[in-house]
Amino acid sequence: MKKNIITLVFSFLVLSLSAQKKPMEEFVSDLMSRMTLQEKIGQLNLQVAGDITTGSAQDTQVGGAIADGKIGGVFNLKGADKIRALQEIAVKKSRLGIPLIVGMDVIHGYETIFPIPLGMSCSWNLEGIENSARIAAREASADGICWTYSPMVDICLDARWGRSSEGSGEDPYLGSLIGAAMVKGYQGDYSRNDNIMACVKHYALYGASEAGRDYNTVDMSRLRMFNQYFPPYKAAAEAGAGSFMTSFNIVDGVPATANNWLINEVLYKQWKYDGFVVTDYGSIGEILSHGVGEDLKEVSAMALKAGTDMDMCSMGFLTTLEQSVNEGKVSLTDIDRACRRVLEAKYKLGLFADPYKYCDKKRRAKNIYTDENRTAARNLAAESFVLLKNENNVLPLKKQGVIALIGPLGDNRANMVGTWTVAYTPERYSTVKEGLERAVGDKATILYAQGCNVVGDAAVQEAGAFGKPVPRGDDAKMRAEALAVAAKADVIVCAMGESAEMSGESSSRADIVMPDVQQKLLKELVKLGKPVVLLNFTGRATVLTWENENVDAIMNVWFGGSETADAIADVLFGDKVPCGHLTVSMPQAVGQVPLYYNSLNTGRPVQSGADKYYKYRSNYLDVRNDALFPFGYGLSYTTFSYGDIKLSSAEMENDDVVTATITVKNTGDRDAYDVVQLYIRDLAASVSRPVKELKGFERIWLKSGQSREISFKIDASMLCFYDAEGNTVLEPGKFDIMIGADSRHVKTTPLILKGSKERVETGRAGE
Ligand code: NOJ
Repeated sequence: MKKNIITLVFSFLVLSLSAQKKPMEEFVSDLMSRMTLQEKIGQLNLQVAGDITTGSAQDTQVGGAIADGKIGGVFNLKGADKIRALQEIAVKKSRLGIPLIVGMDVIHGYETIFPIPLGMSCSWNLEGIENSARIAAREASADGICWTYSPMVDICLDARWGRSSEGSGEDPYLGSLIGAAMVKGYQGDYSRNDNIMACVKHYALYGASEAGRDYNTVDMSRLRMFNQYFPPYKAAAEAGAGSFMTSFNIVDGVPATANNWLINEVLYKQWKYDGFVVTDYGSIGEILSHGVGEDLKEVSAMALKAGTDMDMCSMGFLTTLEQSVNEGKVSLTDIDRACRRVLEAKYKLGLFADPYKYCDKKRRAKNIYTDENRTAARNLAAESFVLLKNENNVLPLKKQGVIALIGPLGDNRANMVGTWTVAYTPERYSTVKEGLERAVGDKATILYAQGCNVVGDAAVQEAGAFGKPVPRGDDAKMRAEALAVAAKADVIVCAMGESAEMSGESSSRADIVMPDVQQKLLKELVKLGKPVVLLNFTGRATVLTWENENVDAIMNVWFGGSETADAIADVLFGDKVPCGHLTVSMPQAVGQVPLYYNSLNTGRPVQSGADKYYKYRSNYLDVRNDALFPFGYGLSYTTFSYGDIKLSSAEMENDDVVTATITVKNTGDRDAYDVVQLYIRDLAASVSRPVKELKGFERIWLKSGQSREISFKIDASMLCFYDAEGNTVLEPGKFDIMIGADSRHVKTTPLILKGSKERVETGRAGE
C-alpha cells in the first residue's frame, strides 16, 4: 500500500517536472505511451461533479471513477475546496496522476454578473465585453475553475427561441467580433492562473431551431451556413479558442455531435482548428432520439469518428468505446487523436505543471466580487440598456417629487441577473427599488407596489422560474394597490417584462408580448394620465407595439447582472446617457419572425418603410414588413446628425482601398456615445445577397456641439461572400455603401468594383 502511494507520488512528480520542461507534443506523446486504452478513454469522459445539473447525469458518484482513471473532467461544481478535493483524487489516487479539467457555465460573469450576452452585445463595446470575460475568468479561476462554456455565438433570428438571450443577436459580423473578444478575454495566453479556457458553442446552427422551439430541427442551405451562421464560430476558432461544444440539433439531417462534415471537414480541415471538441449535455445519447443509429455503442463511435473528443454526460465513450475498438469499429488512431487533444488542453492550461494552479484559496477575497469588478459590471450594464422611446424627453427623471415604482421586477433580487448564473450570490445584489432609493437619497420619495404577478397562470410562471421565483399574490388586489400608489406619484416607473428564466435554455415562448396580467396593469396605469416609463426586462426581442403607442418612455434593460439596480438608477436619472443599440430587430408582431435586417430582397420586394399592403408583393395583409425598432437602433439623451458620405474614389480595383467618410455631429446638450454603422450591399452578384450587411462600426464619444469626421476603409475583403463550399468569392460590380446610426436610417452612395472575379479556396469541405 505504502509502496503504491510512493509510486503514485513519484509518477506525479515526474509528470509535473517533465511538463515544465518538455514541449507539448513531446510531453503528451510520452504520457500517452504509458496510458492503457481504458485510461485514454477515461480522459474522454466529462461528468457533472455534483451541485448543479441541467439534465439527468447518469452517474454523479465521481470520486471513485476519478481514482480509477475513468473521468477526464468535471463541471459545474462551485468552490475551490471541493474542486481541490476532486483534483487531489485525480492526482494522488489515479495511476498516472493526470489532473482533471474543471469546467463551469460561466456565461456572463461568476459572482460579479454582467448583463446577459444579448444585453452586452447592445453596448457594441468590444473592449468592455472583453474585459467582462477577463473579470469572469479572474473570478472563476480564483475559485478552482479553468474552463468555461462560453462564448455562445449562435446567430438567432427568431426571438421565440429562449436562448437568443445567450448570444450576441442577429448579425454575423458583430457576433464574430464579440466572440473573438470574449475568447481573448477568457484565455489571454494561458500563462497566468487567472486565464481560463473558452469553449465556443453550440457548433453549429443551434440558433436556427425551427419556430424558435428549443432543441428543434434545423435545416438550411450551405450558402446560408457559411455566410450568415458560421462566421462567429470561425472567428472564435481563429481567435484561438481552446475548445468547441457541439450543438443538440441536426445539420443536413445528421446530429451535429456525429456530423463528420461539420466537425472534421469544416472545423478542423477547412478552418484549421487546433483545440478539442466536447459534446453538449447528453447529446451523444440524443443522437438515438433523432432516429439515427441503433444503440449507444454505435452513436458513440459515430460521434468520435466525426471528430468529437469529449463526451459530456452521455457515458457513451466510457461504456462502449473499448468494445468498439475490439470489434474494429473504432480505430486506436481515433482514440489517440481525441485523447491527445484533451491532454493538450490540460497542458495549455498548465495543469501538468501545477494541478492546483486554480485552487488558491487566498485569491477569493482578492479577486471575487471586488469593487473594481462591480464597477465594470455597472458600467457595462448601463451601456447595454437601449432607449427605445422618449416622448417629450420624459427621461432623464429629476431626483425630486414622488416616483412610483411598479411591477413584479421592481423589488426582486434574484431576477436581476437573467439566465445562466451558476455561481451567483443574489443575497448581495440590490433590487431596483434599493437602487433608486440610493440614488435619490432624501431628494425624492420612491413608492413601490408589485402590482401583479409575472404571468397570470401560476403554472406558467413557476415553470419559467427555475429557482428564481417572484412572489405570487392576487392580481386584482395587487393591481388596486398599485393604482393607489401610482395615484400619489408625479411619474410612474414600471419594472415589467419577463422574469430571468423566461429566456435561456428550454424557455421558448410562442408569443413574445408583455405577459397578460402585466399588460393589463400597464394599461390601467397609463389611464392615470401621468408620465409612464417602462423598464422592459427581457432576454429576447419582445413585441412592444402597444407599449410604443401608449407609454411615454421605454428602456430595454434586458437583465443587467448583479449591478442592474445601480445601473438603472444611473441612466434613469441621467448620471449616464443611454448608449445601447439593438443587436436584434424588434418585431411589430410575433408573426413576423424570423425577422432580421440583413434579409434577401426577394423577387417581389416592398420598399422599407412602406406603410400599406401591396398585392402580389412580399408582405402581410395585417402588419408591415419593417421591425418596430430596427437592428442598430437606440436613442440617447442627446441627438446626432449625419452628413453625406464622401468616398475617396467611386471606383476601385481588387487591391485598392477606398475611404468612406462621414461627419457626425452631437446636436444636443449632453456629451454622449454614438455607434456609427457601416453597411454594404452587393447589388448584382451571382447569388442573391442581403439588402445590407454590417461591415464596420465605430463607437464614438462626442461632446455636446462637437463634430467629427469618421472614416471607414473599404477593401475587397468587405465586398466578398462565401460560396456553398466555404470558398471566398469576390465579384466585380455595383455596391451600395451605407452609413448611419441604425440599419434603417442610413446615407447611401454607390461604389463600383472594377476588378476581376476571384475565388479563394479556403480549404476543401464536403467531400
Ligand atoms: C446544456 C447547454 O446547452 C450548454 O450550453 C451548457 O454549456 C451545458 N448544458 C453544460 O451545462
